[in-house]
Amino acid sequence: MANTGGSKTVVVSGMRPTGRLHLGNYFGALKNFVDLQNQHKCFFFVADLHALTTAYEREENIAQNSRAMVIDWLAAGLDPSKCTIFIQSQVPEVAELNTLLGMITPLGWLLRNPTYKEQLTEIFKKKYAGQEEALSAAQKMEKLTEQELSELASFGFLGYPVLMATDILLHNALFVPVGQDQVVHLEIARDIARRFSDIYGEGILLEPKPLLTKVPKVPGLDGRKMSKSYGNTIELGEDPESARKKVMSMFTDPDKKRAADPGKPEGCTVYAFHQIYNPQAETRAQECRAGSLGCVACKKQLFDLMEPEIKTFNARRAKYAQDNALVDKIIAQGAVSARESAAAVLTKVKKAMNLL
Ligand code: TRP
Repeated sequence: MANTGGSKTVVVSGMRPTGRLHLGNYFGALKNFVDLQNQHKCFFFVADLHALTTAYEREENIAQNSRAMVIDWLAAGLDPSKCTIFIQSQVPEVAELNTLLGMITPLGWLLRNPTYKEQLTEIFKKKYAGQEEALSAAQKMEKLTEQELSELASFGFLGYPVLMATDILLHNALFVPVGQDQVVHLEIARDIARRFSDIYGEGILLEPKPLLTKVPKVPGLDGRKMSKSYGNTIELGEDPESARKKVMSMFTDPDKKRAADPGKPEGCTVYAFHQIYNPQAETRAQECRAGSLGCVACKKQLFDLMEPEIKTFNARRAKYAQDNALVDKIIAQGAVSARESAAAVLTKVKKAMNLL
């Protein structure tokens, strides 16, 4: 079974089930997961419960998206013999520890959470544009109607950081690979662990640390951050012909109108991708500045470097996508393994809280 390396440091990380992943997700997080599985005892999970904190009313197939994401993970090289891959809602210990940690988490910590405040401000702004700064979260909530608040303020959404702390503390993780945007949540997880230790004793829950690995910046086709909501992505499993068209449509330096005009690679989407895929990116930059390389040729060179990787990934993905039984088995075994690890911590927590 996976994860028998008893003394190894535990790493936990999760992703919300957004469905098929894009290259931004890959270079920003997944590639790092693949590296980490060789050095640590890793738990990687699909945060499907977290999806419900905001999308509980939407017609989204969370289960299907979760599975699609697991298949992308496997195709990218996450290996179930080296790490535990599971779906959050299949580990009921998550719900149990979440309840217990919710008891000791002061409401103020959650109301002050910037993510919560941002969403609240967003809704508030629609109605009271320009007046939002001065008020506290509680005051803003008072000014909004039930209907307006129902867009956001569920108990589950407010408790997002508690659920995330649960995911991490449940396996006594020391390191949590996350992006900068999740660091505030991780800080709350540390606070919850510390508070638990203060009340119930040291040595039961570990204080996790963020693992901020340097990742390349992956712009979308239009130069903004690559994001599904901007419609500027290249999917990790994109069909090569479609990927080629997308590369050929990438934004470049607007001042480089003709091939022989000197260009500025800085801020050019194509160059950002060369920096990821091309060991000779610096040479391409020099040629661009000198006006000896046109954008069309530069894009073609980039795609030639991407194509073999795309094809390899797609072939691996097709193998998993066709083998439902194998994927089912991997997901089921992941749940067993995650539950085993969770049960050990949960028992200690319940003992400390005088429930056993
Ligand atoms: N909140 C994370 C995100 O939106 C996903 C997540 C949920 C997570 N639980 C976690 C990440 C635990 C790391 C550890 O990206």
